[in-house]
Amino acid sequence: MLKRSLAAVLASSVLAAAQAPSTTYRTIPSLTPQIDAAPSLVPAIYDPTAPNAQAICPGYKASNVVNTTQGFTADLTIAGPACSAYGNDIADLTLAVEYQAKQRLSVKIYPRHLAPHNTSLYILPAFLTPEPSGDGSTTAATSDLSFTWSNEPSFQFKVSRVSNGEEIFSTYGYKIVFEDQFLELVTNMVKDYNVYGLAENIHDFRLGNNFTQTFYAADSGNPIDGNLYGTHPFYVETRYKDGASSLSHGVYARNAHGQEWLLRNRTITYRTIGGSFDLYFLSGPKPTDVIAQYQNGIVGLPALQMYWTFGFHQCRWGYENWTVLQEVVDGYANAGIQLEVIWNDIDYMNQYRDFTNGELNYPVGPGQEFLARLHAAGQHYVPIIDSNIYAENPSNASDAYEPFQRGAAMGAFIRNPGTGDFYYGDNWPGFSVWTDFLVPQGQEFWTYECSDWHSRIPYDGIWIDLSEASSFCVGSCGDGRLDQNPVHPPFKLPGEYLNVDYEFPEAFNITNATEASSLSAASASQSSANAAISTPAIVTTTQARTLPTPGVRNLDFPPYALNNLFDGHALVKNSIAPNATHNDALNTTEYEMHNLYGHQISNATYHALLQVFPGRRPFTVGRSTFAGSGNFTSHWGGDNNSKWGSMYLAIAQMFTFAMAGIPMFGVDTCGFSHNTDMELCARWMEMDAFMPFYRNHNVFASVAQEAYRWGSVAEATRRVMNIRYSLLTYMYTLFYYAHNEGETVMRALQWEFPDDASLAAVDNQFMLGPSLLITPVLQPLVTTVKGVFPGVAEGTIWYDYYTLQPLDVAAGENKTLDAPLEHINVHIRGGSILPMQVPGNTTETTKNNPYELTIALDKDGAATGSLYLDDGVSIAPNATKLIHLSYASDTLTTSLSGSYHSAAPLANITIAGVPSLPSGIDLSIAGQPCEAAAVTLVHGAGVLYLSGLEEFTPGGAWEGEMVLRFSF
Ligand code: GLC
Repeated sequence: MLKRSLAAVLASSVLAAAQAPSTTYRTIPSLTPQIDAAPSLVPAIYDPTAPNAQAICPGYKASNVVNTTQGFTADLTIAGPACSAYGNDIADLTLAVEYQAKQRLSVKIYPRHLAPHNTSLYILPAFLTPEPSGDGSTTAATSDLSFTWSNEPSFQFKVSRVSNGEEIFSTYGYKIVFEDQFLELVTNMVKDYNVYGLAENIHDFRLGNNFTQTFYAADSGNPIDGNLYGTHPFYVETRYKDGASSLSHGVYARNAHGQEWLLRNRTITYRTIGGSFDLYFLSGPKPTDVIAQYQNGIVGLPALQMYWTFGFHQCRWGYENWTVLQEVVDGYANAGIQLEVIWNDIDYMNQYRDFTNGELNYPVGPGQEFLARLHAAGQHYVPIIDSNIYAENPSNASDAYEPFQRGAAMGAFIRNPGTGDFYYGDNWPGFSVWTDFLVPQGQEFWTYECSDWHSRIPYDGIWIDLSEASSFCVGSCGDGRLDQNPVHPPFKLPGEYLNVDYEFPEAFNITNATEASSLSAASASQSSANAAISTPAIVTTTQARTLPTPGVRNLDFPPYALNNLFDGHALVKNSIAPNATHNDALNTTEYEMHNLYGHQISNATYHALLQVFPGRRPFTVGRSTFAGSGNFTSHWGGDNNSKWGSMYLAIAQMFTFAMAGIPMFGVDTCGFSHNTDMELCARWMEMDAFMPFYRNHNVFASVAQEAYRWGSVAEATRRVMNIRYSLLTYMYTLFYYAHNEGETVMRALQWEFPDDASLAAVDNQFMLGPSLLITPVLQPLVTTVKGVFPGVAEGTIWYDYYTLQPLDVAAGENKTLDAPLEHINVHIRGGSILPMQVPGNTTETTKNNPYELTIALDKDGAATGSLYLDDGVSIAPNATKLIHLSYASDTLTTSLSGSYHSAAPLANITIAGVPSLPSGIDLSIAGQPCEAAAVTLVHGAGVLYLSGLEEFTPGGAWEGEMVLRFSF
């Protein structure tokens, strides 16, 4: 949606260009805005004349049941005349039920007579996203789940939990609808159901029962309740029982087509515009079990990230040149704030063309010097790569663009079926093509370009943007006019002007009254000046609902109109059109592949980086994702706003990506669109220090928002950054468990305390792993914050992270906590052992610094924790080490497995919840008694501090198992 919001900016930049020297260094002819026109449609969910498929369709009858090793198949035959609700009915279907594992049941319904991947339906092939099969042993008799069906009045089925007979999914009372452009089923739901997930959405964590999730990847900013970048058709439902327990289950619908999930009172309706029903039911019974079953059993476990990626990242759109980049790096160093990674947005490119460097601002030679300095300081560089490839002007030799020429010669680009030539859309560089990752030459092209560019600009990871795939015009608008490249902005940069139309955060006019009033005057005068500039309006027609035509699918205007959020809702808006065609043998179209484009380009980039950095874990951050993308990419939340509401909604967005198996998630800290301010940026820097991917990024022509720009933000950041760097080893260990077992890193309170119904909707606090509870301030002008502290009725103790004092909180209390601007509330759950290290200025220096343990005892005086170590870069490290830490009966013990050697010693141990100073200690390492007299012991306010341990572990903290016993 960014392009749309740019309209006003562009108008004002036209005005500014008359007064200030232009940054343009080429002449660009303009095209009519009409190239972005598409007929307007009424989305089916808002169309009173749209057919009700349940009312008019006949449903199916099941027959010919055949038992299979792990379930059965049956024929489904249409039970009456075709209804042609939004497509052509498929009369003969197959039902396949498979008890794939004790906790997983698969139910597939697909056309009986069509080749599985026939493009007229496109059943999602396993090479695009995993399709699990049975474990070979589970049967109806041993499964947690049961499947029952009936033919009265038409085929309907239900899935129940065997242990208590409860229905978790039931189409009883509703028909199955299966057409070539429309599939529908409806499940009955309990009253006020608790359903979570269906990423990607900007919505409360608990989705509620008045919500439609549309999945059609869109370059749409962060619209509340609108479709945006990612498609993860997976939800978890939790049912609370008698106030003291709960059971959760999950549903995954493996289908990549445009689709809608209508969450309504007592039902969920699932509709897609193609493919098959490929449903997986997961029995849990805890929410975290469901999430692990989804990741471990179906879509695959998240990629392990390189250690350095957990450092702090700084980006912005509008860093003019290498010198500015260097100033930002220096700015952080001078402010004493850790900066691990500096990023570049599209500013570095030559005319926004991938794999190029602008000769004036970002020349290669000085870039190499910059990167050599950066790398020598242990820092890293991640540039953006856009998903489009500029299509050169064929009638101007000086416009030659080698990547386009190479890809074109290989036939590596998606085609326009009308011409057979490439599909020419429009993006930042102007007319563009898109790489076709369904054919091997797409990967070959991409790998070559990523490697070739790396030989000049030794980047450390790649940021993949616009992968929806975004296009700024309708259809193949470059056909026959590649010599008339459309205008795209020579953007004004921050030093040149501040966009006076950008808003500030909600309370800016109170905290910055003078500045706010002068900006509002400037904005008013600019608006009246802009009003004088006439920009031709786009003329839009309206289009009635298209009707199914026998034997033909209408790809660009399918009969079922999705509620695509762009003006007019047509699928051809702001993206390459559904009829754009791939070069594979099936001539698969974007109708089938649209929601997979981002998934594929991230996968291709992962494989390209495997070539660039053999044996190392590729770091890619992608915008559009699909179920399973976490196997190879991380994700940022896209174009959020510098608003308090946007900061709050980031928490729920993060939870849904934790569920989806993309734990390496973060949002644009301090906000992307519009201007941030000191207060919002301070609070946001504090909160995101506990998000796995921690990056500050903002839009061009907005106020600068690096953490050192305001004294208070710098101070808040220094404090919280030291906490983050101290905890890197804890966070990395969480990732190890995510990567190996499908555990979550960021956690909803509901996941850690699944039986407490009062936590069902909590999304203003979150946990980092099992041990840390974060209570961020999410509103302006306050110095306190409220939070809940689960488990207190059962004896859970929460310790303040800073003072290690137990929090005085009653069970169920919404506790008010002090929250001065530079402070974020963090509490440690009693029973935890946090492995920590003295924070250094980079992740690498931190990794080599002495270890510390913070032990927070539970009500029984016990605690556990763990620590995972490896080299932090290799896909298959040649050595690893897993350390289990446990404290009970006044004794700390460590148990070790693996051979990875870390030379850093163990320096300090701090134990919260110890009533008095011990009278003695016994320490042994690897069975050898140590002279514990050298250890310093201090006790105060229930906290025991041990220091001076380094001398016992000079060769490394984790070389021998430790037993540390206190006597009192
Ligand atoms: C897109 C990205 C944003 C980036 C901008 C310019 O809007 O989401 O992060 O800054 O494009 O490349």
